[in-house]
Amino acid sequence: GRAMERLEVTETFAGIALPGHLHTKESLQFATTFPFRDTDVVIVTYPKSGTTWMQEILTLLYSRGDALPAKTIPNWERAPWLEQIHFRGALRDTAAHRLITSHLPARVLAPLLQRSKAKVIYVARNPKDVVVSFYYFHRLAKFLPDPVSFDAFLQQFLEGTVHYGSWFDHVKGWLGQRQLLDIFYVTYEELHQDLRGTAQRLSTFLGCPLGPETLEALEQHCSFAAMRDNAMANYTLIPREIMDHSQGRFMRKGMVGDWRDHFSPLQNALFNRVYQEEMHDVDLSVHWPM
Ligand code: A3P
Repeated sequence: GRAMERLEVTETFAGIALPGHLHTKESLQFATTFPFRDTDVVIVTYPKSGTTWMQEILTLLYSRGDALPAKTIPNWERAPWLEQIHFRGALRDTAAHRLITSHLPARVLAPLLQRSKAKVIYVARNPKDVVVSFYYFHRLAKFLPDPVSFDAFLQQFLEGTVHYGSWFDHVKGWLGQRQLLDIFYVTYEELHQDLRGTAQRLSTFLGCPLGPETLEALEQHCSFAAMRDNAMANYTLIPREIMDHSQGRFMRKGMVGDWRDHFSPLQNALFNRVYQEEMHDVDLSVHWPM
């Protein structure tokens, strides 16, 4: 029945589990030997941290506020995933600045990036909201195992036995690249609080001018409501066998602090303990309300 139709093939790579239909040995081999150009702009995130949002923001920034590319080209072609099988076909080799997306951990990807002057944008999100978003995404995405319960999924997340591995390792690994890469750190929460300010900082970082009209278009087009209704950003073009939108939406809530409606006091205490153990010596410029 239902379980038989699922695509749960898992590839293990450098100690992390990945959805096997999207990530083959060949695509991973290609990713980990990819020659970055100095002009490349690479979005790096742990899943569910604001990847799609950043793809949209950079699309609008580079189009100088023209919404046409964002409305006519799917985001996986505008900023393709380095480690996926579709990467080679989707990469726009003629663009002055190629936008590339990856969820790979620093220990795999950073050495490769260090050989170029490529710019990296790392987006992080409060892990409590990440785990909630990831849980719902597992129900939507047919290539990921159906979680038994939120509690079981939370446990796996804290152990780092979910796809793409430990959130803690991912964030710590990429934070460790501050001196080694041309890297811009931003949080999902900052995007929420001050999209305009963040877009302006991004424009400086990328050396991409941003006039008031572009800024206005960007703000309008990158709102949650606009992206939820944009088929080129909301993944509704993906076949039902891969993402079943009757099970929920990719653009689910887009909120800060939704974890408060999902965590029991016990789960929260457990999470805080692990977070403290893992992150106590990490210099985070942004602190989340935990
Ligand atoms: P929720 O599940 O909490 O709603 P990613 O793109 O890394 O997979 O992250 C997806 C998360 O980002 C989802 O979170 C999604 O709703 C949220 N998101 C995407 N675009 C957004 C936007 N414009 N504003 C706020 N949140 C957005």
